[in-house]
Amino acid sequence: MDNMKDRLKALLEQSLRSLEETGSLEDAEALRIKILGKKGELTEMLKSMKDLLPEERKEFGQAANEAKARIEAGVAEAKARLEEARKKARFLAETIDVTEPGRESLPGFKHLVTATIDETIEFFSSMGYVIAEGPEIDTVHNNFDALNAGPNHPSRDMTDTFYINDSVLLRTQTSDVQARIIATQQPPIRLISPGRVFRCDTPDATHSPMFHQIEGLVVDEGITMADLKGVLDRYAKFLFGSSLGTKFRPHHFPFTEPSAEMDVECFKCGGKGCNVCKGSGWIEILGCGMVHPNVLREGGIDTERYTGFAFGIGVERIAMLRYGIDDMRLLYENDIRFISQFK
Ligand code: DAH
Repeated sequence: MDNMKDRLKALLEQSLRSLEETGSLEDAEALRIKILGKKGELTEMLKSMKDLLPEERKEFGQAANEAKARIEAGVAEAKARLEEARKKARFLAETIDVTEPGRESLPGFKHLVTATIDETIEFFSSMGYVIAEGPEIDTVHNNFDALNAGPNHPSRDMTDTFYINDSVLLRTQTSDVQARIIATQQPPIRLISPGRVFRCDTPDATHSPMFHQIEGLVVDEGITMADLKGVLDRYAKFLFGSSLGTKFRPHHFPFTEPSAEMDVECFKCGGKGCNVCKGSGWIEILGCGMVHPNVLREGGIDTERYTGFAFGIGVERIAMLRYGIDDMRLLYENDIRFISQFK
């Protein structure tokens, strides 16, 4: 009996000390199991009580229960202490330093090509033009035949055009949308059509096998060259400055008659001659003309009643002129240092 009491006392003391010293919740739980668990040291001690005399059993039982209660309290205390310590450590680890500079978020911005297209859309939309889009893969018919560029037209050459087969190609111009619209709609027609076009060109400072155009088409009763000139003169002033003059030079396109190229007075030198206008004082900015009657007839439009004008804008060319970019390839390299200059 005395021996057992001594062991109980030793166990109690050692248990309380261990619990005080334990450094983690896991260790505290392991200790609890080691002492109070089913096969724990104190549990075993309680089991061996049955070998004692009845009166000894009562006295030892009391002592053992007391010890058990103190150990349980010790476990609870240790766990509370460790829980608190863990919380503190977590708070410390998750502390936010509000004085640290924030991470910069970089909102996107439009690429120059997109920005130029969007500005052009805005300009023409304000005058009632609608946007018509066409697919980049189109028929030889829409890209050439319907636009009065017959089988022997030089622009159909294999060296300029990406053919997919005899009747399908990557469109070389957004003018193909003219053919699509004229074939399906009756006047009044007033549209612009931005999009990608493709030509078999080796990339250099002014060429790319893929670039962007914006087509314009107006067909209605009483449309004359004066309408064409008025609209495009306004567009040039919108792009380059309201004080600049424009002029129209005769040119040839298969789908317009008469055809012209429009020049704007050099926005850099005002017409005196400089490196931008190559000394001429003028800068060519687009092609245009009165829609050829063959094109209207192809779509079943009455050419006695209706006339129209069309124009084609090279998007990269406009962007390069406006922002003084001397190499077209810069627009496609996606070098953020270049692109972000034009935010
Ligand atoms: N499609 C022509 C080209 O790629 C540009 C053009 C010129 C379009 C005159 C037109 C136009 O609609 O009238 O060079």
